[in-house]
Order: sequence, then structure tokens, then C-alpha cells
Amino acid sequence: MALVTSTEMFKKAHAGGYAIGAFNVNNMEIIQGIVEAAKEEQSPLILQVSAGARKYANPIYLKKLVEAAVEDSNLDIVLHLDHGEDFEICKKCIDDGFTSVMIDGSRYPFEENIELTKKVVEYAHARGVVVEAELGKLAGIEDDVNVNAKDATFTDPDEAVEFVKRTGVDSLAIAIGTSHGAYKFKGDPRLDFERLEKITKLLPNTPLVLHGASTVLSEFVDLCNKYGGDIPGAKGVPENMISQAVKLGVCKVNIDTDLRLAMTAAVRKSIIENPTEFDPRKYLGPAREAIKDMVKHKIRNVVGSSNTL
Ligand code: G3H
Ligand code: 13P
Ligand code: ZN
Repeated sequence: MALVTSTEMFKKAHAGGYAIGAFNVNNMEIIQGIVEAAKEEQSPLILQVSAGARKYANPIYLKKLVEAAVEDSNLDIVLHLDHGEDFEICKKCIDDGFTSVMIDGSRYPFEENIELTKKVVEYAHARGVVVEAELGKLAGIEDDVNVNAKDATFTDPDEAVEFVKRTGVDSLAIAIGTSHGAYKFKGDPRLDFERLEKITKLLPNTPLVLHGASTVLSEFVDLCNKYGGDIPGAKGVPENMISQAVKLGVCKVNIDTDLRLAMTAAVRKSIIENPTEFDPRKYLGPAREAIKDMVKHKIRNVVGSSNTL
């Protein structure tokens, strides 16, 4: 088994009506928990590394840990750069053996985003690496947001067509109302499914990516708070909305916050309940288990990729 690109995974997912979970990794326990879950669920898997993760762990450690996971699990795994902010970080990751990179030019005007994305696509494709780009800005919809504000931030379907055509990008992250982190909505959660349907219809062969897809499950927020945390008013995207987005054509679902919450709840619980313990394995072990349980749940009940290998 090997590090692979997402090309075949996305084709199969598209045909099978499910999506691939892309989970952020920062250390050994997180990688082990996620990979063990994918193995038990017999699910395809994308492990993604942010610039912050590279800075925290030192890139070589994450690369070697992911290689170890491939060898140990016997799974094909995609190693993906999450939110590459410029050409240089994408190039570094491609040169380091990543099989997929994201160039996030969403903060730039349309033409500049296209130019930057094209440059990364040329470099990546020449080396057998696939590229995800982003069009539109991730921002939750406030209750009383007007149509003009939505049009200014969310992905424009016609622009998406032009963007994909002119850049040759392999997959596209779209903005339909999700956002990063644990505070996604001020009012009721809502996504612009109409817009998603339009984009899917216009781009039937382009895998679409949903960032900011954590649900912020109250069970884990409550556990954090019960054991000394202070995370008031956190709110994510309900899981049935993510599943709906998958039904409407989303192929890759990015999840980080839900893993952070599960891990932190387990560490907090373990430390508070075992005050005499000071062996890190005693709280990192349950944390790894909590990650595994969360990923199994996402694979089975949210993205629907169980038993598709
Ligand atoms: O989208 C961002 C991911 O949750 C990664 O977060 O930049 O803090 O590593 P990070
Ligand atoms: P969440 O913060 O909702 O987990 O989103 C993660 C993400 O989009 C990583 O790119
Ligand atoms: Zn993201």
C-alpha cells in the first residue's frame, strides 16, 4: 500500500454517492486514532497537514508518521496540504512527497486567484500531484443576511466554471455557509444548498470540497466544560446537513474541530479523574481512542464511506 492521489478515490466516491473524510493531523496519537478508524471501517482516507501543523511538529516528523501509518495499516492514504497560502509552501510539500496540495487563493481577487492556482497546478501536475483550490470566502450566514452579502462571499456558480476551466484544478472548495472552528453560526445553522446544486450541475466532473464541516457535537463541548473547560455557545453544522451536502455532490469533507474537541474532552476527563497520575500515556491513550471513535462515527454516519475499499 502507498501514499496515493485522490483521483481514483473521488471517482469512486462520486459514483457511490458518498464522500471522503479529510482529517487534520498534528501528532502521532491523532494520526494513529484516525488511521485505526479508517482501517476498522474499511474506508478511504485523506490525512491533511496545515502550515500550523508543519510548524508545530516539524514537517519531517509528520511525513514519517504518515508513512509509518501506511505501512502499518496496509491502507492507501492521501497526504494533503491543507490551506497552502502561497506557491512556495505547495512546492515544498510536493517536493517532500505529498500526493495532494491545496492552494488557497480565496483571499485574492478572482484573476489573481486564477494566476496563483494555475502556477501551482502546473508544478503539481508535472510531478503527478493533484491540486485543490478555493473560490469564495468561508463565512457563516447570519440570520438576517441579505442576498447581496451572500453573493459577495459565497461561491458564484458561473465563476466556478470559469475558474476550473482556466486553472485545470482537480477539485474545488466552495463557500456555501460553513466556516472554520467551533463558532460557525450566530443564529440557526443554514447552508445554501440551492447554490451547491447549481455548482454540481455546472461542474458534474469536478470533485467539490466542503471546509468547515465540523458539527461541534454538544456532548463533547459539555464534557470539556464539565472538566474545567470554558467553551460557551459553540455551534457547528448539524450532521444531517453535511450528509445532505454529500448527497448533492460534495466529495471531500474537512473535519478538524470535532477531533480537537473529542481529544480535549478525553484529556481533561482523564487528568481530572486521575489526579495522582502523571504518565502522559495515561491521558494520551484515551485521547487517541476518542479520536478513533469520532472518526469512525464520521465515516459511518456522516460521509458514508464505510466498507467501500
Ligand atoms: O482549516 C484549518 C484547520 O482546522 C487547521 O487549523 O491552521 O490551526 O492547524 P490550524
Ligand atoms: P472545521 O474547523 O469545521 O473542523 O473545518 C476544518 C477544515 O476546514 C480544515 O481545512
Ligand atoms: Zn479548511
